[in-house]
Amino acid sequence: MISDDQEIRRAAAILRGGGIVAFPTETVYGLGADAFNPLAVARIFEIKNRPFFDPLILHIADFNDLSKLVMDIPIHAERLIHRFWPGPLTLVLSKKDEVPDIVTAGLPTVAVRMPQHPIALDLIQKAGCPIAGPSANPFGYVSPTTAGHVREQLGDQVDLILDGGPCEVGLESTIISFIGEKPRLLRPGGLPLEEVEPIIGKVEMNLIEESGPSSPGRLPKHYAPQTPVVVDWREKDLDNYRNKKVGLLAFREVNVSLPFQQVELLSPKGDLREAAANLFAAIRRLDALTLDFILAEPVPEVGLGRAIMDRLRRASHREG
Ligand code: TXA
Ligand code: MG
Repeated sequence: MISDDQEIRRAAAILRGGGIVAFPTETVYGLGADAFNPLAVARIFEIKNRPFFDPLILHIADFNDLSKLVMDIPIHAERLIHRFWPGPLTLVLSKKDEVPDIVTAGLPTVAVRMPQHPIALDLIQKAGCPIAGPSANPFGYVSPTTAGHVREQLGDQVDLILDGGPCEVGLESTIISFIGEKPRLLRPGGLPLEEVEPIIGKVEMNLIEESGPSSPGRLPKHYAPQTPVVVDWREKDLDNYRNKKVGLLAFREVNVSLPFQQVELLSPKGDLREAAANLFAAIRRLDALTLDFILAEPVPEVGLGRAIMDRLRRASHREG
């Protein structure tokens, strides 16, 4: 059931008291704490089993709150804010001293976004503080796009789960850093680059892990289910899967002739928005079947397709 005003009030009180609330955003569900309460923020890391070197995003609901968190706002960042906030865009900027180190993993920078979900905005306003919040999943697993996903994995560890229905976007926010000379994409996400570049020009895009964990969402293995995911397969490889329990994650139609245990079509009408919104729930359904493999069909790498393929590749990365 969608959370009502009373429940949002209760959630805000829990946050003010140092508790942890899972909350809906338009991208994925977040696991929230009062950003200025380091003990509460520490609990987020514990619950997620998240390494302390992985900084959190701050969620705000009022444009004026940004200048309380960051040193300055470059003109290009400001343009993006005016155009896309509230929305699936996170900006990395130089932080003010007041932002606790545990939020930023000791980095001199902080990631901030204004989510576009009425419950998230209402919660932040009622709590009266920025909410530090990663996606509400165990570290490294697929992000939750329904309150049920959060309940299944973290239910007994959070103080309250707000329900805002299924997330409209279904992919985490696009992260752009304004720290270097040029704006740089740290994570492709719910806001396609094609919408960003007409406003601020070319965005640098070296997503390769060239330097430490400045954004673990960029670790080669991340966003992964238990079941091995295979993305780079060819028609000729299919014989290897014939005697296995295999699920198919397909974009708009089934082009493969294996007997699949289950097929998930992301968007029969071939719409990348719809595919993005369905992606994580479909991966979870397949993951629940204890299959040997999930075969994923590629989607066109334009617009949201870029972020979808990014998540599929990271989900498919095998260690060792
Ligand atoms: O859509 C979203 O962004 C969701 C919703 C809940 O807002 N949040 C989310 O948070 O995906 P999380 O923690 O799962 O991913 C945030 C990513 C991490 O990869 C983290 O390393 C990166 O943002 N990040 C946070 N602060 C950063 C910073 N100061 N510099 C570089 N990367 C940063
Ligand atoms: Mg995450």
